Amino acid sequence: MPPKATNPPLDLLTRQGAAEALRWWVEAGVDMALDEAPHDRFVERPAPQLKAAPVVATLPPTRIEHAAAAPDDARRSATSIVAAVKNLDELREALEKFDGCGLKATATRLVFADGAPDARIMLVGEGPGADEDRIGRPFVGRAGQLLDRMLASIDLDRSKVYIANVVPWRPPGNRTPTPQETTICLPFIRRQIELVAPRLLVCLGGSAAQTLLGMKEGITRTRGQWYDYAMGDAVIKALPMLHPAYLLRQPAQKRAAWRDLRTLARAVREMG
Ligand code: URA
Repeated sequence: MPPKATNPPLDLLTRQGAAEALRWWVEAGVDMALDEAPHDRFVERPAPQLKAAPVVATLPPTRIEHAAAAPDDARRSATSIVAAVKNLDELREALEKFDGCGLKATATRLVFADGAPDARIMLVGEGPGADEDRIGRPFVGRAGQLLDRMLASIDLDRSKVYIANVVPWRPPGNRTPTPQETTICLPFIRRQIELVAPRLLVCLGGSAAQTLLGMKEGITRTRGQWYDYAMGDAVIKALPMLHPAYLLRQPAQKRAAWRDLRTLARAVREMG
């Protein structure tokens, strides 16, 4: 049997080795430390003895709400919060205070929106990445730069559109938000759309299309066609498109994206 591979103890790593290890971890999506001391998660430990008393009983009252029965309570709490919110500033403030979504704990900051709040076109992506998390605005990294070029190709820019994400905090390592995280954040993005009140909604990528339009099928099947989106009492048109990050990985798909951009441009022209 080959000898079991083990990581060298950290104090035996050379400076260069440590830098390489860090680079490798970042590429693998491990881009933040959760604790000062390393833990070997592979060591078997006896199962923890659960105490009879609920943990929430020891928490201060303001934390109980979400720690108690997380997703359902957090979703209910989000729904009642957004019902009281009257404008985008209040919505941003409510999100800053909201502790019901675990993503907030690992993100650097809230990434609320960019663009014109009175725009007739609203674009919604999946969730912030590392650059957005650092800067605090959606779509500012490589995918965002491609999005800007895509918009420019049909004579649009950030002064003519409003941009937000389904989840406003960066999922660690840029992973896809879990269904639970998405469900908790859904009342916020739905209210954000309602407050912007666009005439056209563009869902960037499968995650946004599935969350906002309730689609089961993947984005390659649904892209480029108009769907109805119920926005309060109104119904607006919604267009799923390929996500610019996907186009960076699959440049051959830019041809399909260009077709969808022309579909969007036609609808913009028809609005007058
Ligand atoms: N991808 C997204 O879905 N949103 C961003 O803001 C950036 C990248």
